[in-house]
Parts: sequence; structure tokens; C-alpha cells
Amino acid sequence: MMNLFTIPNMVGGHLVGWRHPDAWPEPVMNLAYNIETARIAERGKLDGLFLADGNAVRDMDKPALFAANYPSSRPGVFDPVVLLTALAGVTSRIGLVSTATTTFDQPYFVARRFASLDHVSGGRAGWNMVTNSFAGDALNFNHAEPVGREDRYARAEEFVGVVKGLWDSWAEDAFVQDKASGRFLDPARVHVLNHQGAHFRVQGPLNVPRTPQGRPVVFMAGQSEPGKELAAREADAMFGAGSTREQFQRDYADIKGRMAKYGRAPEELRFIPGVSVFVGRTAAEADELYEELAALITPALGVHYLSKIVTRDLSGYPVDGPLPEVAAEVIGGSSTRTLAIEMARQENLTIRQLYERMVPAFGSPVIKGDPVQVADIMEDWYRGQACDGFMVSIPVMPRGLTDFVDLVVPELQRRGLFRRDYQGTTLREHMGLARPRNRFFPTGASLAAD
Ligand SMILES: Cc1cc2nc3c(=O)[nH]c(=O)nc-3n(C[C@H](O)[C@H](O)[C@H](O)COP(=O)(O)O)c2cc1C
Repeated sequence: MMNLFTIPNMVGGHLVGWRHPDAWPEPVMNLAYNIETARIAERGKLDGLFLADGNAVRDMDKPALFAANYPSSRPGVFDPVVLLTALAGVTSRIGLVSTATTTFDQPYFVARRFASLDHVSGGRAGWNMVTNSFAGDALNFNHAEPVGREDRYARAEEFVGVVKGLWDSWAEDAFVQDKASGRFLDPARVHVLNHQGAHFRVQGPLNVPRTPQGRPVVFMAGQSEPGKELAAREADAMFGAGSTREQFQRDYADIKGRMAKYGRAPEELRFIPGVSVFVGRTAAEADELYEELAALITPALGVHYLSKIVTRDLSGYPVDGPLPEVAAEVIGGSSTRTLAIEMARQENLTIRQLYERMVPAFGSPVIKGDPVQVADIMEDWYRGQACDGFMVSIPVMPRGLTDFVDLVVPELQRRGLFRRDYQGTTLREHMGLARPRNRFFPTGASLAAD
């Protein structure tokens, strides 16, 4: 079964989606819109909502962009776990996945927050473990400059081990809560982690019991070599970043191929690339939406946006000239940056052509057409082992999500590619992932036997 996620982005997933006549007015800090979004997505039986996150106000040095309120910038957004906790109360099935950074957060806080979300939601929590891709975030966490990739991943590797260790703190039957005997918990059914490593000293145990899913689903999105290796070892799901079916096929084979050396089977990780869907009742309607949005992008906005992606100020260069030299690798550089630079070089794109390509979907593929055309592509990629599902970005909210749920989902259901109703209650069940075993308390065993 295909896994489908969406980003509940109230300003839409397109740079200027919020300006479209059908877009929600005043989307900033609007809880009611978030609730409506969650309900639409749950009506469509989607696996989950995914919230990207960062911890800084960005691009104050790019005035056209800063003032434009574009979706991947983060001023005016809720703390993601606080928001998902609110959404847990108004939904019953849909998965709730949030990003948290291993570079600036603490493993105990992350373990506690996501375990709590799993309890609050009845087993629907997911953690997108990122090392952080935004250079400016470091400045809000005691650093004078961005943290290099090697350091970020060294910390991330230890971080995730601690989090998982803490999630295994308690046996499932530890909290007896027996009024008659007066036994609240069984002191033999808790494990003290006593972790001491290069980055963290964490005694444990976690002050949250074992969670409904065993532990929350762990997502990874890092696209670098150490990122892929960490995902192969630790993640239940991996987000893909690329621009073509062939690239996703390579990435799919690559990540699944890395898992055996960690004693894992390929189906223990779901590969879920991001795509942007422009769907209409007819192909012409989808084209019209695409063009309406393209017309709203001024060169100033496009150039600033591209400058942000490639981390070089392009405003002094002719917009119809080539992309100037940019460093192949920079500290804090992202996979989107690499993608844009490679695309420009390989296809000889001008600055304008490159921003026109990058803007509609932040560099990920655009799937555009009527419901059958959109489903054809999704089916082809899914059956062609380019993915196990999709992270669907919606250009204009709420219109795009309603259209996706009412037009594309039924077409996928008709083809037997997507569920007609939820079969289980947890995110793990939706995704076809096994319940993890507690390494300190294998089911049924007493502490003495562990
Ligand atoms: C679909 C997707 C979503 C991502 N979401 C976030 C995010 O919310 N916050 C963040 O800091 N990085 C995010 N990233 C980037 C990373 O996960 C990763 O930390 C970053 O790319 C640096 O790691 P790398 O050098 O291995 O790519 C995302 C990447 C992808 C492909």
C-alpha cells in the first residue's frame, strides 16, 4: 500500500501560493485552518501530516523575500509539537509527524516530547530527525557560526541512540496502577540507561511510559552520505529529495541496499520523496493554476529565492545570463542547493530559467494534470520502485488539498494503490511497519530473565 503524507502549510507549498484568490486569507498562526487541514487530510485517509521546522527568522538580508512570506521561511509558525498536540485532539487516525533537530535539541527533551505526543494521540507520533539545514539557526543556540556536517552527524548518531534507549525505559506492564494492592508501578520493570558518550551524559530513565506504538516512527531527511547511512541504520522512513523518477529509483535502491549491513530488511524503511501536485478536473485547469502562480513571481522575488538556495547573492547578475560560479560545498549547505546547482550546470539554465524551475516545488518534481494523469505518474513511480509513497506538497491551500483528496485519492483507491479506510489506529500500522521490540524488556519476560 502506498503511503501518503502532506505538509500542512497554511501559506501553501508554492512561493506565492498564499496570494492566489482561492488561498486562505491571513494564514499566519491560524489554528482553525490547521484543524480544517487535518480534517481534510484525514477524510482522504492520508497516513500523516508532516511539519518541517527550524528555529530562526531567515532572509532578513533579502528584502524582497523577507517581506514575501514564503513557505519555507519560518516566521509566524507554531512550535510543531504544540500544534500537533492540538490537532491530535480533533482527529483520530491521521499520523502526526514533526521535525526536531539533533544539532540544537537535547535527546531527553526530544524523547519526552515525542513519547508524550504518541500517548496524547493514541499512537500516531513521528519524529523527523534532522541535523538541521538552516545556517542561521546555529546563532540562536550558543554558536557563532553554522555547525559543519561532520560535527552535526557525529552528534546525531549518538543522539538517536540515546532517544531510542530512553523510549525503551519501561516495560509495557510497568505501570500496574492497582488500587487494591497500592502498587502504582513495578520497580523491576524500568531500565536506567546510564549513557555516557562524547556528546551526551544521560542517566534516564525517561519519565514517560512505553508508548502506544512501542516508540514513535523515526523519519530521516538528510541526503548526504552520513545522512543516508544514519537513515539505513536507524530510520523507519526516509524522505527523498530529487527532481526525477530515475533519481528516486537510484536513491530507493541505494537506501534499501545499505540496510542489510545493519541487520535490517528493506521493507523496514519506507522511502517517501517529496512532490508537488497541481491537479485540476481537467489538464487545462491544472495548467491554469500553474500559470496563475508563475505570473505572480517577479524577477526580484525569483532572484532572491534562488540566491537563498545557492547561498550566493545573485541580484547583481543578468537574470537571463548563466548562474555564476558557486562553491560546490558550503557549511550548512543543503541537498536542495546541490540539486539546483547540478540542474543549472547540466541543462545550461539561466538564472531566470533556474528560479522558474525551482520555485513551483522548491526543486522537487511537479506532478500536474487531471486526476488520471496524476495517478498514472504516482502509480508508475510506486510500481517502478522509485518510492513507497509520497510527501505531497500542496501549492494553494485549502483548494489544492481538497482537490487532491477528492480527485486523486479516489483514483488511487480505484486502482487498489491506496486504502479506502484506515485499517489500524497507529501511524506504524498505516505505514505497514512492525511494532519495535523493547530491547531491555522483550515481551513477557521478567527483568531477571532480560
Ligand atoms: C522532505 C525534506 C524535509 C526536510 N525538512 C527539514 C526540516 O524541517 N528542517 C531542517 O532543518 N531540515 C530539513 N530537511 C533537511 C534535512 O533533513 C537535513 O538535516 C539537511 O539536509 C542536512 O543534512 P544532509 O547534509 O545530510 O542533507 C528536510 C529535507 C527533506 C528532503
